[in-house]
Amino acid sequence: MNSAPVIAIDGPSASGKGTVAQEVAAALGFHYLNSGALYRLVAHSALRRGVSLDDEAQLGVLAAGLDVDFRGEEILIQNEQVTDEIRSEDVAAGASRVASLPGVRTALLERQRRFARPPGLVAEGRDMGSVVFPGAVLKIFLTASAEERALRRYKQLKQKGIAATLPSLLEDLRQRDARDAARSVAPLKQCPDARQLDTTAMSAKQAAERILAWYRGLDW
Ligand code: DC
Repeated sequence: MNSAPVIAIDGPSASGKGTVAQEVAAALGFHYLNSGALYRLVAHSALRRGVSLDDEAQLGVLAAGLDVDFRGEEILIQNEQVTDEIRSEDVAAGASRVASLPGVRTALLERQRRFARPPGLVAEGRDMGSVVFPGAVLKIFLTASAEERALRRYKQLKQKGIAATLPSLLEDLRQRDARDAARSVAPLKQCPDARQLDTTAMSAKQAAERILAWYRGLDW
């Protein structure tokens, strides 16, 4: 649908998808969907309410009823700011677990598709190009080496004053990558029609510029 073109950006944890996707969206004046935040919000709500991270039926109900509001960079749930809280490693680990449940993924599907409104959408996650927006006009698979991604996460956490060590971050990232790639529903993998962009030696700005150049060069 050309009235609301979608640029799908998928890739592993800490590959820089968030920063790059937001830069591309801002440059084009498009809407932005951070789909990982939805999985994080489900895990966060479950942890708060004492819902087991294996209870697929209850988690599906939580996912369907999420009262979430994305306001610029801020994420609110029932009018409460949870932007930083959902970035914690605990919530990230929970998100990776709930994301493996088909009941949760189905409950979030239509909500994600509603973000595709004119003038367009930049959506980032793991299955944007493969499942949620298979008709995306441009699909990117953004990668970087695990070591570089762990280093980026380390610097981010340090900046926020959150204690972390590089080896444990690297180990967590590897475990999460393995779980995201091995799950049976919507595993993390590059779509055959996605363009790969390895950002190991690239800044977020350079990566965004490359995607914008690809988008502008599309043969409509
Ligand atoms: O991108 P992120 O680290 O915020 O994602 C959090 C978790 O959610 C991660 O383990 C993968 C999962 N996820 C997913 O399964 N599908 C998406 N479209 C986005 C994220």
